Amino acid sequence: MYGHPTLHYFFYTLVVISALIFGANGDYLIGVGSYDMTGPAGGVNMMGYGNFDQNTAGIHFRLRARTFIVAQSSDGPRFAFVNLDAGMASQLLTIEVLQRLQKRYGDLYNEENVAISGTHTHAGPGGYLQYVIYSVTSLGFVPQSFDAIITAIELSIAQAHDNLKPGSIFINTGDLENAGINRSPSAYLFNPPEERARYPRDIDTLMTLLKFVDAENGKSIGAFTWFATHGTSMSRDNKFISGDNKGAAARFFEDWFTSTSKNASTPINNYSKKLNNRGLLEKAAKIKATGGQPCSNTTSQGFKVRKNDGSLFVGAFCQSNVGDVSPNVLGAFCTDSGLPCDFNHSSCHGNDTLCVGRGPGYPDEILSTKIMGERQFRKAVDLFTSAKEELTGKIDYRHVYLNFTNLEVQLEGNEVVKTCPAALGPGFAAGTTDGPGVFGFEQGDTEVSIDPSMKLKKIETTTLTQPKLYNSQSKVKLNLNSSTLLHNLN
Ligand SMILES: *[C@@H]1O[C@H](CO)[C@@H](O)[C@H](O)[C@H]1NC(C)=O
Ligand SMILES: *[C@@H]1O[C@H](CO)[C@@H](O)[C@H](O)[C@H]1NC(C)=O
Ligand SMILES: *[C@@H]1O[C@H](CO)[C@@H](O)[C@H](O)[C@H]1NC(C)=O
Ligand SMILES: *[C@@H]1O[C@H](CO)[C@@H](O)[C@H](O)[C@H]1NC(C)=O
Ligand SMILES: *[C@@H]1O[C@H](CO)[C@@H](O)[C@H](O)[C@H]1NC(C)=O
Ligand SMILES: *[C@@H]1O[C@H](CO)[C@@H](O)[C@H](O)[C@H]1NC(C)=O
Ligand SMILES: *[C@@H]1O[C@H](CO)[C@@H](O)[C@H](O)[C@H]1NC(C)=O
Repeated sequence: MYGHPTLHYFFYTLVVISALIFGANGDYLIGVGSYDMTGPAGGVNMMGYGNFDQNTAGIHFRLRARTFIVAQSSDGPRFAFVNLDAGMASQLLTIEVLQRLQKRYGDLYNEENVAISGTHTHAGPGGYLQYVIYSVTSLGFVPQSFDAIITAIELSIAQAHDNLKPGSIFINTGDLENAGINRSPSAYLFNPPEERARYPRDIDTLMTLLKFVDAENGKSIGAFTWFATHGTSMSRDNKFISGDNKGAAARFFEDWFTSTSKNASTPINNYSKKLNNRGLLEKAAKIKATGGQPCSNTTSQGFKVRKNDGSLFVGAFCQSNVGDVSPNVLGAFCTDSGLPCDFNHSSCHGNDTLCVGRGPGYPDEILSTKIMGERQFRKAVDLFTSAKEELTGKIDYRHVYLNFTNLEVQLEGNEVVKTCPAALGPGFAAGTTDGPGVFGFEQGDTEVSIDPSMKLKKIETTTLTQPKLYNSQSKVKLNLNSSTLLHNLN
């Protein structure tokens, strides 16, 4: 139902590291952390595409929570930023994390100065958000998903906190041209011409990098980048847990840093090359299933998970103003004819489910993920190695919860109007070319042309578990029938 990959929070969280560019002599305490957050790899619906049939069945590569903390002094103002290999954070995660941080550190980390962000991968386990629309396809709340993420956030923050040491921060920016396209170019054309004229393209190509350097030995301890492109290189039919292109970029970056710090003349690997994976497959085949027994240090998890106690370099690829930016840069084509889709409706002879975007590795989505990861990784290496501008000044932050219902907006001619309550138009159900939604809906439609209740039969009398009962594990039966759901959606 909610096949729209750009589904976002009902509240906007605005966090600004401001005033960093003013003032003088900014030596900070800086710490980084990284913790595995993979979650249930079998039978759990995945977060992002809203596809009932997309349930985890294995792992492409593991997910991580990566954190940096920058503090003015050991008890002074500070800021913690966490990047999750997940579709998004959730208010529920934030509430639980803050409670755990309160127990560890009192008021040092709080609602104001902790930001939790998701890479927007569409290939992680779902069911960890509290609002019903995010939990329909996972049939409610999934405690195992929630536990894995919450633990990783808490422990990656704890690592970063324990590793705080004097350091400095460098910033660099640059454009990355081939890592995204606008997947709804006809919708973009509805923007006023004078506004469009202000931008060279219909997407934002800016990558911003922060580089953290240890003051004592001059070595970098980590780098975080922000760049807008969807985590939809892995398709809505993929069943493997994956960090998608940004998770891949992070691993490439961390591997590159580790190898260059050992050997300054190591070239950058070309990850997009078709590799002979036989060695890897043989190694993987040697790892035996535990048959339901807990993992030991030579089997499964304990053996395979990368360890980082925060002393290793942490490279993170964070999501920014992603909007309609797609990593499927070859464009969208009809799966039946192979021709480009209908421009205004992103459909093929009226059928939206036939119109699907193609990544550069098409038809191999794992290759597409690698290539899109590699493009971001290479740009990050450029920005990292040439970063010269040092950030100085005091640390400050802003965090706003804003209710978008009934906000006053001043139009030209001083007319004042109000925003509506939250609403989803019929085009929402059509999804996007990264993950088409339900047949019968088309992008650009302002009316529903078929009887939508036909498509909603599946979720009638669905059993959803409620997040409030997280600890008690009880299930609650919600009588969610098509007419009530549709009512809520419109
Ligand atoms: C460093 O890497 C280069 C290129 O891969 C290689 O030729 C050289 O032997 C390496 N040096 C050491 C000391 O490992
Ligand atoms: C990496 O390898 C692929 C396939 O061989 C090639 O097409 C691509 O140009 C290479 N990329 C770089 C940056 O060398
Ligand atoms: C695994 O754990 C056992 C017992 O805890 C220990 O004796 C052994 O050295 C460990 N092996 C490895 C490879 O860490
Ligand atoms: C798309 O819609 C616009 C009006 O919104 C129209 O001018 C244009 O001709 C349409 N393009 C196609 C290819 O149908
Ligand atoms: C639309 O396409 C899907 C395949 O993606 C197919 O299952 C469905 O039957 C098509 N609908 C019509 C009316 O052709
Ligand atoms: C947002 O504002 C609307 C109207 O003022 C109100 O009905 C709604 O309860 C508010 N939402 C929250 C979460 O406060
Ligand atoms: C669905 O729910 C609505 C509102 O609760 C109710 O009026 C309607 O009778 C229900 N329909 C079915 C088929 O259960």
